[in-house]
Amino acid sequence: MKIAIAADHGAFELKTSIIEHLKEKGIEYYDFGCYSKESVDYPRFAYRASKAVADGDYDFGVICCTTGLGVSMAANKVKGVRAAVCTNEMLAEMTRRHNNANVICMGQNVVTTELADRMVDIFLSTEFEGGRHQRRVDLLTAIENGESI
Ligand code: RB5
Repeated sequence: MKIAIAADHGAFELKTSIIEHLKEKGIEYYDFGCYSKESVDYPRFAYRASKAVADGDYDFGVICCTTGLGVSMAANKVKGVRAAVCTNEMLAEMTRRHNNANVICMGQNVVTTELADRMVDIFLSTEFEGGRHQRRVDLLTAIENGESI
């Protein structure tokens, strides 16, 4: 499994902590930045990591900012990306089971590093249920393709 990880300056510390967690678990990752706490524009970093997921180079994305909100908006504008802001373990599980999310977004000012690690573990290990949820995910794709549903 390969993970694309990114954050803006507002979540540089959270990203650093999650990277340590991925290293401890032996999970392969690439850090798409940013690489310091200097102010940057979150859409650029969310785009780089989520595009790499959409292109199939990475299985999942983990993208953070101060709130998780801005990076999720940016990520969801990339075709093929289903990004979810998660603030607890249940959301991390359900967005995999029902939405087949391929990017998890979190906010450094919202979650603790311990919670973030637990959500990443759940997100990466939970399977999509398919079935009726596949039909609904297909409808998300139809919207993305400009179809009227
Ligand atoms: C940066 O100040 C902040 O706006 C950003 O980290 C993010 O929370 C945006 O949604």
